[in-house]
Amino acid sequence: MGEQRVLITGASSGIGEQLALDYAANGWQVIACGRNLEALGALHQQHDNIKPLSFDINSLGSIKQALADVAAKDLDLVILNAGVCEYIDTPMQFDSALFERVIQTNVIAVGYCLEAMLPCIRTGGRIALMSSSASFLSLPRAEAYGASKAAVSYLAHTLAIDIAPKQLGVSVIHPGFVKTPLTDKNDFPMPMRISVEQASAAIRTDLAKGKTEINFPGRFTWILKTMALLPTSLWRWMARKGLAGSNQ
Ligand SMILES: NC(=O)c1ccc[n+]([C@@H]2O[C@H](COP(=O)([O-])OP(=O)(O)OC[C@H]3O[C@@H](n4cnc5c(N)ncnc54)[C@H](OP(=O)(O)O)[C@@H]3O)[C@@H](O)[C@H]2O)c1
Repeated sequence: MGEQRVLITGASSGIGEQLALDYAANGWQVIACGRNLEALGALHQQHDNIKPLSFDINSLGSIKQALADVAAKDLDLVILNAGVCEYIDTPMQFDSALFERVIQTNVIAVGYCLEAMLPCIRTGGRIALMSSSASFLSLPRAEAYGASKAAVSYLAHTLAIDIAPKQLGVSVIHPGFVKTPLTDKNDFPMPMRISVEQASAAIRTDLAKGKTEINFPGRFTWILKTMALLPTSLWRWMARKGLAGSNQ
């Protein structure tokens, strides 16, 4: 098999950065995307098979221009990982600007990336969308983030059905808590939080197997999916009483 090529959004930090480093260390050609060129340049310093590519995923024009600049085509794998997390602290003074920011970057921009990038994937290739285990059930303060990730999961599952005839695989990733700058901001306990190295290993192993849904850590996923089976009224009561754990 020739050299494999992966494009990763959100590669300047956290999970995406670790994925870029690990794919590069395993001999892949990596297109590492983000806005922070300095951070992306540091990745190139470590592995010259990492090519930095800077664009804002909220600008369809910028994405298309950047892909044209590197003549991106015949990609084996695209990982749409970039995302943001903000919580709603004052639901009665609902912050629609916050809501819009999160939905824009986590959902609408995924649509921009799909428009620009699906044509760049080779027949038989795969695209992975980064959701979250927060999409499994309604978590306190996650009106924006949880809704955005539920939308991403639905989008991925539907896209998988519709593009299967084009021989393109679709995976959706549901991590629990991973230690990154995104979760370092959290002021609540994060049970079973894992490292970016562990997250990257779980994602790469399951993508290599062509898994359609990638969930980790296993026990955390099992607990959330079991909670999601509870009657809605019981779950809401538990969440109100603070028995729900926290968001990721
Ligand atoms: N950490 C967790 O516990 C956890 C759990 C479940 C799901 N996730 C999801 O995993 C993904 C990565 O999260 P992380 O924890 O690794 O976060 P992170 O360290 O904050 O990294 C986020 C990445 O997204 C990029 N990004 C954000 N807005 C962008 C924009 N407008 N244009 C281009 N790139 C943008 C950032 O790059 P620039 O700043 O360079 O633009 C950065 O590389 C997110 O989708 C997150 O929701 C994380």
